[in-house]
Amino acid sequence: MAKIIDGKQISSAMLDTVAAEVAALKAQNIEPCLAVILVGEDPASQVYVRNKQRACERVGIRSVSHILPVDTTQQELLDLIGSLNADPSVHGILCQLPLPAHLDAQQLLLAIAPEKDVDAFHPVNVGKITIGNAKLLPCTPAGVMEMLRYEGISPAGKHCVVLGRSNIVGKPMALLLLAADGTVTVCHSKTPDLAAETRRADILVSAVGKRGLITADMVKPGAVVIDVSINRGEDGKLCGDADFEAVSRVASAVTPVPGGVGPMTIAMLMRNTVTAAKAQNGID
Ligand code: GUN
Repeated sequence: MAKIIDGKQISSAMLDTVAAEVAALKAQNIEPCLAVILVGEDPASQVYVRNKQRACERVGIRSVSHILPVDTTQQELLDLIGSLNADPSVHGILCQLPLPAHLDAQQLLLAIAPEKDVDAFHPVNVGKITIGNAKLLPCTPAGVMEMLRYEGISPAGKHCVVLGRSNIVGKPMALLLLAADGTVTVCHSKTPDLAAETRRADILVSAVGKRGLITADMVKPGAVVIDVSINRGEDGKLCGDADFEAVSRVASAVTPVPGGVGPMTIAMLMRNTVTAAKAQNGID
């Protein structure tokens, strides 16, 4: 049976480290602060934003939430982002995605000052991640890398297969695995024989968002399976892309959903906020 990688426990240890850093900054009169923008009433986004606020409370980061109505205009958001950019007491700015369809998300992400872009979605930060000199790392892929590191699993020399090519997870995940000396294949909806690719994976990361996608026969015996997706099962319960029970009998380690990658993402957001606060105060 595979080892179940406990994202709650690993993230908890990381949050303790972040809390100690926050305390050290506060002793220097620097209070790390994260501003969160949520537009509309998407229930999943409301849950994510609440979890982010709770994590801020736990580690001592000040959180400022801007919960805005669904008909908020592009200009109102640009003005808000402009004022948060100019506010030296705010170190991180996060605009929760997805945004309502009438808004241009790319233009808004571009408006966030790169040094306050704790999601690492701004093209300047994406470029730095590509080059390999980024300070702010994309939260979910960075959380996956931390999980692997904590478990003593090195991507170096391994065949890593990433399912999904989104800007939030798939693409930056591939870059971080590559930077860690993995040999990386990125698969997507047009990949002709997905199972042939996944069976070659020593480390399989799935971020497709399709329950039941990864069956046991698609997993190489002894592989590590990291399930990033959060889906609803037929029973209404949360589940990932992998058939967890069956895959657990083939893999050497798997992440559960919930309690796997999700908590790591939030821990990385807290770490990025501290990193941003330090950088903006000339501390490195
Ligand atoms: N929506 C889903 N994941 C994310 C994330 O990591 N950051 C933001 N801002 N929105 C999201």
